[in-house]
Amino acid sequence: MTRTTLTRFLIEQQRNANALPAELRLLIETVARACKTISHAVSKGALGEVLGSLDSENVQGEVQKKLDVIANELLLDANEWGGHLAAMASEEMETIYPIPNRYPKGEYLMLFDPIDGSSNIDVDLSVGTIFSVLKAPEACAGRDVTEEDFLQTGRHQVAAGYAIYGPQTLLVLSVGTGVYEFTLDREVGSWVMTDPDMKMPQGKCEFAINMSNRRQWSPGVERYIEERVMGAKGPCGKDYNMRWTASMVADVHRILKRGGIFMYPYDHRTPGKAKLRLMYEANPMAYLIEQAGGAASDGFMPIMDVAAQGLHQRVGVVLGDTAEVEAVVAYGREAE
Ligand code: AHG
Ligand code: MN
Ligand code: MN
Ligand code: MN
Repeated sequence: MTRTTLTRFLIEQQRNANALPAELRLLIETVARACKTISHAVSKGALGEVLGSLDSENVQGEVQKKLDVIANELLLDANEWGGHLAAMASEEMETIYPIPNRYPKGEYLMLFDPIDGSSNIDVDLSVGTIFSVLKAPEACAGRDVTEEDFLQTGRHQVAAGYAIYGPQTLLVLSVGTGVYEFTLDREVGSWVMTDPDMKMPQGKCEFAINMSNRRQWSPGVERYIEERVMGAKGPCGKDYNMRWTASMVADVHRILKRGGIFMYPYDHRTPGKAKLRLMYEANPMAYLIEQAGGAASDGFMPIMDVAAQGLHQRVGVVLGDTAEVEAVVAYGREAE
């Protein structure tokens, strides 16, 4: 059986009607290569002296794990010299990282969460890398890239994906023509396509939310969860299951594979306050979920239509099963 590698898949995408641009192909290959290196570092664990925290805090006010910084450096080093990017931005860096003058500048912008779920690193649970690719505005040719150039809605993404470092290392990718899954063949060192058409199952009764935040839920979210927890006796007439991994990558991957809904809603007590980041987490995951037939909302509107006002902007996230996402949004409206 001939297996489709990531390289072959990307070349075929370049040749087909979608005509994936060569620079974008190179960019994705480079990110995928960096993810292999990150996967290797993650799997070494204590033997590679990569576990534990540093003394530093990132711009999000979080204590940085060693692997947050290692993965950030690996992604910068891998992507700065290839000529496909104009600048990068990351959860772990306060400001944007323009491509140094010694390298050619390309036409894309990339944003990434180098290690998602980093609280899970030290306890050997799945973590991942999330990335989002935008076109640099034409106006920035011939001048330095600025933070404003990144402030585009999620609808402008031309590619997004994540790597998950779990029992297997996977790459889940979309370039706007569906969602594809690749598994890292460690012996050979290549990404092999293991799902050519990821479509998230609908109608599955499973939700993912951190229940300890209940006091900050809005009445709509409160009602939605309460009805599901009531089980077959409640208005849904079904028993629901619950999962929470505390790695968005792992929770979203489960939803892509077996359905359900993921929620990290706005804090109802403090308007506009949320945990997840629009540019590094919500937008790329919304792109993948919509491409796989699901829905992604901030609780009020589609995530990918939310105006980007700052690189590190946070946003409510409700994504997955289309009917369940619509129910959360409807309950929110009814409660207003
Ligand atoms: P990160 O490790 O990149 O900072 O992201 C952590 C995020 C996300 O992966 C997860 O869904 C969420 O934080 C978990 O938050 P709680 O610990 O509040 O449940
Ligand atoms: Mn973090
Ligand atoms: Mn994250
Ligand atoms: Mn992170």
